Amino acid sequence: MTNNNDHWLNLPGISLPLRTLFTGYLLVTGLGLLMAGAQMQLTHGMADGEWGFSINDIVYSYYGNRGNSRLEAKLNGSMKDKAPVEVRTHMIQWVQDGAPEALWEPEIKTLFTTHCTQCHGHIPGLPDFTQFQAVQQVSEIDKGTSVDTLTRFSHIHLFGMAFIFFFLGLIFSLAVGIRPWIKATIILFPFMFLILDALSWWLVKWYPNFAVLTIIAGMGWAMASAFMLISSLYQMWILPFKQNSYDENTWKRE
Ligand code: HEC
Repeated sequence: MTNNNDHWLNLPGISLPLRTLFTGYLLVTGLGLLMAGAQMQLTHGMADGEWGFSINDIVYSYYGNRGNSRLEAKLNGSMKDKAPVEVRTHMIQWVQDGAPEALWEPEIKTLFTTHCTQCHGHIPGLPDFTQFQAVQQVSEIDKGTSVDTLTRFSHIHLFGMAFIFFFLGLIFSLAVGIRPWIKATIILFPFMFLILDALSWWLVKWYPNFAVLTIIAGMGWAMASAFMLISSLYQMWILPFKQNSYDENTWKRE
């Protein structure tokens, strides 16, 4: 008995039924991970309005596009000529401060009644800016993913991915010719990066600079899984046919 379990069950020497089972699992899992990557491109990749996944997409998705509310966009757009620049700047500043109701009566309301309510309050169909609630509605800022959604994403992601990584690691643990501590490290990687990944979404929600961490974590677990997947397939389907460089009983390099 040695401390190396390479000989009782190993990928190159595994029985055909188990080899088939493992291969089916690995192929479908690999495909699933590729699809997950594609889906991420489609849902988050366009968050900043440009193709391709970038740091900005992560920031817009989780932190939100905080520079933008409808009111601000209009004041810089089709309503630009309705008030002089000092008034518009003042309104935008108030919106960016979170449109606090405390300042509405004393300060902001008069700006709207002077410049906006001759239309917004009289023309049917336009939001009525004599009312704070109507102004508040168009001042709402895109704050990214809500805590509710993040909690849901996190637990689904953690449970689901842990399941995938468990079987991936289990199969890879039967690989031969890799030192146990290196193997253990590779098996541990996806789990650690997974935690980091989920943690980074929460951090980005409040501190957008952590978006870098999301990228690093995602690449980390993707690379570790790809390595386990490819080397497991290699050891089951290619290595047995090159077995002259290995001792068939122990699957150790001679
Ligand atoms: C002369 C009339 C008029 C005045 C004055 C006016 N608006 Fe408008 N506003 C409109 C019309 C018409 C629309 C709808 C067309 C559009 O969105 O450009 C509109 C749309 C808007 C919208 C989008 C509403 C929505 O439901 O999406 C906002 C926000 C807005 N205005 C803000 C303002 C602000 C702030 C002022 C004052 C600085 C102002 N408007 C002054 C006529 C006016």
